[in-house]
Amino acid sequence: MTAELATIVDLIRYAASRFSAAGLTFGHSHDNAIDEASHLVLSSLHLPPDLPPAYGNARLTAAEKAGVLALVERRIETREPVAYLVGEAWFAGLPFKSDPRALVPRSPIAELIEDGFSPWLDGREVARALDLCTGSGCIGIAMAAHNPAWRVDLADISDDALALARENIALHQLGDRVRAVHSDLFAGLRGERYDLVVSNPPYVTDAEYAVLPGEYAHEPKLGLAAGADGLDIALRILRDAPEHLADAGVLIVEVGESEHALAALLPDVPFVWIEFKVGPMGVFALERRDLVEHVAAIRAAASR
Ligand SMILES: C[S@@+](CC[C@H](N)C(=O)[O-])C[C@H]1O[C@@H](n2cnc3c(N)ncnc32)[C@H](O)[C@@H]1O
Repeated sequence: MTAELATIVDLIRYAASRFSAAGLTFGHSHDNAIDEASHLVLSSLHLPPDLPPAYGNARLTAAEKAGVLALVERRIETREPVAYLVGEAWFAGLPFKSDPRALVPRSPIAELIEDGFSPWLDGREVARALDLCTGSGCIGIAMAAHNPAWRVDLADISDDALALARENIALHQLGDRVRAVHSDLFAGLRGERYDLVVSNPPYVTDAEYAVLPGEYAHEPKLGLAAGADGLDIALRILRDAPEHLADAGVLIVEVGESEHALAALLPDVPFVWIEFKVGPMGVFALERRDLVEHVAAIRAAASR
């Protein structure tokens, strides 16, 4: 049935057709069957995502083809995200090890990193930055890779996630400027202050979590679920961030669809909802002084 398939392009086209016909969900790194299929085929053949098109006509060996086809079937049967199947995801133009110890890297914050956090950091000196709720380490490691003068801490409560983050620090040879710290939000970072704190914390509501497609069941629940309105973690970050931001420091946090609940809960806080190339993505920026000014309302919300 697959005897006609010979080239890289053949395999990508076949995988995409199978994925679409099987009704898979694409929410981990990709939003369509072709990109999902390209990731699976190219990564499993140890080829880069920006492979020059001429190589698309290259033929696979029988063993390579059997390996790719087995992964295509596994993707459909188990619903495992492609990044876990091939052990690799790309984020902010960089490769990261990816496996079920942490969420698949996919935050829109990649775009901010690639754009130098402009205009949020324009004219500000950054010496130290924190990636809070780091998972695989993708955000903090990409920040360090794109900014050779920054020292970056990665914090997470999950030992599994930190182990993967450390492997990614080693992959990028950034051990001299990036460290992974076990911490329940800021609790393990007493006395530390940062010019920039970036976080993609869990923000899925309990109700949303209960009906997520099968792909998400392969990711750690600790990385997704965040209470009845999805704000359990984000509110604690808002409450404690002033202690850990430099006077001119900036906080950037992704809350996804929970943006609306957050804006309704704290109507006077001047959240700046960042516009991405594809539109708003539920990511806000706030300056330390705004957090300090609204500390009473934030504390009240966090202690609901
Ligand atoms: C949405 S994932 C994001 C991972 C990574 N930043 C990314 O963008 O792919 C959230 C991460 O927060 C971590 N986490 C959950 N509760 C935490 C807490 N109280 N303190 C620190 N990290 C926490 C989880 O272990 C998970 O790795």
